Formats: sequence, structure tokens, C-alpha cells
Amino acid sequence: MNIWQELEKPFLILAPMEGVTDLAFRQVISRAGRPDLFYTEFTNVSSYASEKGRHNALERLTITESDKPIIAQIWGKNPDHFSELSHALESLGFAGVDLNFGCPDKHVNKAGGGAAMIKTPELAVDCYRKVKSATNLPVSIKTRLGFTYVDEYKTWLPTLLADHPAALTVHLRTRKEMSKVAAHYELIPEILKMRAELSPETKLIINGDIKDRAAALALHAQYPEIDGFMIGRGVFANPFCFTDHVATRDELMELLNLHLDLYEEQMNLHGLPYEPLKHYYKIYINNFPGASDLRARLMETHSVAEAREVLREHSA
Ligand SMILES: Cc1cc2nc3c(=O)[nH]c(=O)nc-3n(C[C@H](O)[C@H](O)[C@H](O)COP(=O)(O)O)c2cc1C
Repeated sequence: MNIWQELEKPFLILAPMEGVTDLAFRQVISRAGRPDLFYTEFTNVSSYASEKGRHNALERLTITESDKPIIAQIWGKNPDHFSELSHALESLGFAGVDLNFGCPDKHVNKAGGGAAMIKTPELAVDCYRKVKSATNLPVSIKTRLGFTYVDEYKTWLPTLLADHPAALTVHLRTRKEMSKVAAHYELIPEILKMRAELSPETKLIINGDIKDRAAALALHAQYPEIDGFMIGRGVFANPFCFTDHVATRDELMELLNLHLDLYEEQMNLHGLPYEPLKHYYKIYINNFPGASDLRARLMETHSVAEAREVLREHSA
């Protein structure tokens, strides 16, 4: 049994988010209320293939017991590099490997990866097959409906399903739509039909605008054939979104303190800069009197120690 066969339907997943779902943040979400499955941020296969990039790639792929089971997400366009990294993932404790065929980032697409794969389906299939033969881990795919037009899903998704991936996550938008329009829930019945006809064993995961567990369960009540739901930006509004719990201000502060501790550990271990941590402060500090002042003061800090001091003064 692989992880996709073990998960009970409907399962919930924290979406891979570059610059967000790093090791520290996954542990924070795990403490708040864990999803059934985590994904790493995406790692570039060619970076791993180069002597210079390998160390960095492996650092991004550090996991702990508290974020298992976890899937490693990878991207690139070189089939041999896909193969090399997938092979290495097997011994790193991952439950599976996911191919990113949906990222809309300009640099990623220019390099032929992410959503650009939708325009080169033969290459996408080649990469998938190379990964399949390089690892015993289950191989899944995360993608969008199309690159430019919504209708592209009519050929793109069958192309992917023909190779029977273990799971397919569909972010219900095109690359061109970015996240600017509502997710195309109206296409769910058609996509479920494709899956049933072409690859009934593939788990189908729906992604896009699902803000929390309640929203996922409501969608599942409407479409019980969907296997799982992936939540991305919902964690920004509510880090407890995988539970039905309504967090108190104290609980959010506790989470923030935990995040400071965990991130500081990573700073010490890997020499990470402090600045990226500031992006997270708005997750924990909002919706109470004085929140915007406190946030503004935290944004002026230059170290975890300074941030702790500001929080101490605030609670005194
Ligand atoms: C900051 C940010 C970073 C992201 N990075 C990735 C990534 O590394 N891999 C990926 O497959 N999708 C990435 N995504 C897309 C999300 O996984 C998800 O598909 C998208 O946010 C839609 O889901 P949502 O409406 O629940 O947020 C990213 C999204 C955001 C907002």
C-alpha cells in the first residue's frame, strides 16, 4: 500500500507554496492542526543535478517526523535530471514524489518548467515516465487546467491520466488566470468523468479557493467522488484551517512564538536570513485592537531576538 491508497477519503493536503511551506512553517501547521498530507516547496531537478546546487536542493528537502507523511515536489524540464532527483528521494523518507506542471512563475516557465509543461505534453510525459522508472515511490502530478485557455484541460488532463499517475491535483484555473478569477468548480463533473474513464485508480485532488476544512467538506458533499482537497492560501487567513477550531488570540500568539523558535533553529543551522520570516507576521497578528501597530513594529525588527522583545513589551 502506498500513501495514496492509505489516505481515507476525503483527505486534506497543505498545498506546496514556495517561500511559505518550509520546514518551520510545516511544523507550525502541524501544531495548529495537521492536514493528512504535507508537500514540500518545489525543488528544481537541475539544481540537484549540479554540484553547486545539490547542497541547497537537499536543504530544501529536509523533513522531520512531525511533517510526515510528506510528498517531495519537484520541477524542471530535463527528464534525466527528473530521474536523478527522484531516485535520491527514495532514501530521504518521502511518501511520494509530485511533479509540478502548473507553476505560473515567469522564470520557471521561461526555463520550460511548471505550467510551460502544458505546452510541451510529450516532454511532460517523458519526464513522468523517467521518474516512474527511477523510483519505487508513488508519482503524482499537480497542474492547472491549461496554459492560456480553459478548454486545454480537455486534451491536457487525458494526456496525463493515460499514464495513470498515483494522484492528480488540478488547480482549477489556467496559467493565464493566475489566481485572479474564481476557480472553475463547474468543470469538476467533467474532470471526474475523465478520471473514471481513463484512470479510475488515480486519486483526484481538487485545488483552488478552498479556504478551510468546512469548505472542503461542503465540496465533497456535492462531489463525493473527489478523493482529496488541497488548501493553499487558506492558511494565511487561518493557520487552524485544517480543523474546525476557532483560534483565540493567545493561541495565535503561541503559534507565532513557536514559529520564531523553529525559524531561528533553521537560521542557525543553515544561515537563513531573518527578513523572510516577517512575511508570516500578518498570519498571526490581525483582527484585534492594536494589531496593525504591533505588526508595524515587528516589521521594523532585524532579528528574532528583536521580534521577541517587541512581543514581550506588547504583552507586558
Ligand atoms: C506564495 C505561493 C507559492 C506557491 N508555490 C507553489 C509551489 O511551489 N508549487 C506548487 O505546485 N504550487 C505553488 N503555489 C500554488 C498553490 O499550491 C495553490 O495551487 C494555489 O495557491 C491555489 O490554491 P488556493 O486557492 O488554496 O491558494 C503557490 C502559491 C502561492 C500563493
